[in-house]
Amino acid sequence: MRSPKDFFAPLALGAPAPVREIPVTPSRMIHFFDPGNEKMAAKVPDIAKKVDVLLGNLEDAVRADRKEAARAGLVAIAKANDFGKTQLWTRVNSLDSPWVLDDLVTLVTEIGDKLDVIMVPKVEGAQDIHYVDRLLAQLEARAGLTKPLLVHAILETASGVANVEEIAGASPRMQGISLGPADLAASRRMKTTRVGGGHPGYLVRTDPTGEDLTEGRTTYQQDLWHYTVARMVDACAMHGILPYYGPFGDIRDVVACEDQFRNAFLLGCVGAWSLHPVQIDIAKKVFSPAPSDVAWARKVIAEMGDGTGAVMIDGKMQDDASVKQCRVVAELADALAA
Ligand code: GLV
Ligand code: MG
Repeated sequence: MRSPKDFFAPLALGAPAPVREIPVTPSRMIHFFDPGNEKMAAKVPDIAKKVDVLLGNLEDAVRADRKEAARAGLVAIAKANDFGKTQLWTRVNSLDSPWVLDDLVTLVTEIGDKLDVIMVPKVEGAQDIHYVDRLLAQLEARAGLTKPLLVHAILETASGVANVEEIAGASPRMQGISLGPADLAASRRMKTTRVGGGHPGYLVRTDPTGEDLTEGRTTYQQDLWHYTVARMVDACAMHGILPYYGPFGDIRDVVACEDQFRNAFLLGCVGAWSLHPVQIDIAKKVFSPAPSDVAWARKVIAEMGDGTGAVMIDGKMQDDASVKQCRVVAELADALAA
């Protein structure tokens, strides 16, 4: 891990950032709230006890005439509360908006010591991260902050997806990347109007010859986001930062939400956004490894001794690679229990 002062060092534009390990602080659910909504803001201290990350949202879903109220609300909430181990993040407005400069200047100056991560929407390429990185360095130096703010990018434009590797490695401040399926669908001109999740029309059908190996189930819905999540996970793993699934908009469909979150978890994501309290428990369940998986992982690790060679456990072959997989599960369980 680089020392905090490295974050203030001038960044050579275009130079690849060194690979580093981000400490695994739990961030299974990034819980969104509108800081300008007084009813929602009043619930924040209670919600903070149930979530890993609280995020004061200033961007989409906040009306243009409520942007300043949201920003001021977040400053007031951060100053009035100590959320303990729960991280406080914000999503600022996009870099092409008239609000983002005031968002960054105000938040870093007023509550830079309370914020952990700044989520930047609609990131198109490394240049967007370089801009935010430089501006943060200037604002932090002026405010006398000693803990550097980290940056999280939302992957939600076609060009962002094309540039995801360079985005992930654009700055030592990079903490992670979230899939933004709603904006991404619009940017790609996909034909779904849903916020995340699947689509009943995106499916595979069994062969019309009548051969049915599926015990009567003739169609399966496919994961619309598989390709992007997999690309994002690879880019994040390559640069030692964390990948997340973003929003699931159909709050009532808890089953589909859990399925979507689980697909992302199995592919390597460490968390997802929660847009409603009902999604907090779903994310907690899905992004914490199941006790039976943890027990199995520990058994393989124990029986593999120094981690080399091969053993048979319950009829399954285990070797150096499977022990590495098992360590991922066991280490996650340990980090969540700490
Ligand atoms: C999130 O911001 C999305 O566009 O899905
Ligand atoms: Mg979006």
